[in-house]
Amino acid sequence: MPIPKAELHLHIEGTLEPELAFALAERNGIALPFADPDALREAYAFADLQSFLDLYYELMAVLRTPRDFADLADAYLRRAQADGVRHAEIFFDPQAHTARGVPFDVVVEGLHGALSTSRDRYGISSALIMCFLRDQPVDSALETLASAERHLDKIIAVGLDSAEVGNPAARFAAVFERARELGLRCVAHAGEEGPAEYVWEVLDVLRVERVDHGIRSMEDPELVERLRAERIPLTVCPFSNVRLRAVDHLGFHPLKRMLEAGLVATVNSDDPAYFGGYVQENYDGVAAALELTDDQICTLARNSFEASFLDEATRSAYL
Ligand code: ADE
Ligand code: ZN
Repeated sequence: MPIPKAELHLHIEGTLEPELAFALAERNGIALPFADPDALREAYAFADLQSFLDLYYELMAVLRTPRDFADLADAYLRRAQADGVRHAEIFFDPQAHTARGVPFDVVVEGLHGALSTSRDRYGISSALIMCFLRDQPVDSALETLASAERHLDKIIAVGLDSAEVGNPAARFAAVFERARELGLRCVAHAGEEGPAEYVWEVLDVLRVERVDHGIRSMEDPELVERLRAERIPLTVCPFSNVRLRAVDHLGFHPLKRMLEAGLVATVNSDDPAYFGGYVQENYDGVAAALELTDDQICTLARNSFEASFLDEATRSAYL
């Protein structure tokens, strides 16, 4: 039995398995530039974050209707149930869809349709986190946030993702300020490929409550002390870090050192269809490669609930 856990760093578009991509391509009359799912899988050898993002955005072409988004989310939730996930906070990238002519409402209605039945069908509570693409203009993020205003009952937080290095988070300060005024929680990717300064920036300028990845925080003792003292959670994605070459080998992953430093680190799958494993496989992988103790594995699972945006009563019941 997998340990009960929350998953807090999961891009729904990154759960698009090759088989589903081909099924949706056929349903929507779209030609994919790969012969079959196996040929597509063979393309999953990435040099860095950008080389992954290029394929990730390209494959999204198959997602067109509310049913496509609902099928995608339902497939993830079914898989997550088998991994002991009890709560999932799920990223989506609206600008990657609106830019190719899929209306914002189609994306949100489709995803929310699947999420609204996840508790009954899979015993998983769930919430949506809307990410802004940091390599796109600020005006596009503001426009996206305006579209979200009619869906505030379906979105719990905003995030920031896509190409990190060279795209400073500070440009998005006003977007995050407005999101907070609307009652949305705030998270951001930082310290994945970029240095520790990028983590300081999302804490001090965007004022996020949680940092996605944040592995390079370990290079800055003062930052580690701040994260520890303020119990700012980090949503760490070990398989992703290895596949995107932020870390050379699972055995060199900083996760164990993060736990030993007293950080609220969690384990997540990021884009599991692309990185070779869902959340339990990430737990099992780091447990073996880093020789984590049973206590450390329990801490990771407990941290996942502590770091979640569940209401206080539900959160404490898990701790
Ligand atoms: N979008 C999807 N996965 C991502 C990652 N690991 N980093 C940044 N943006 C992403
Ligand atoms: Zn991510």
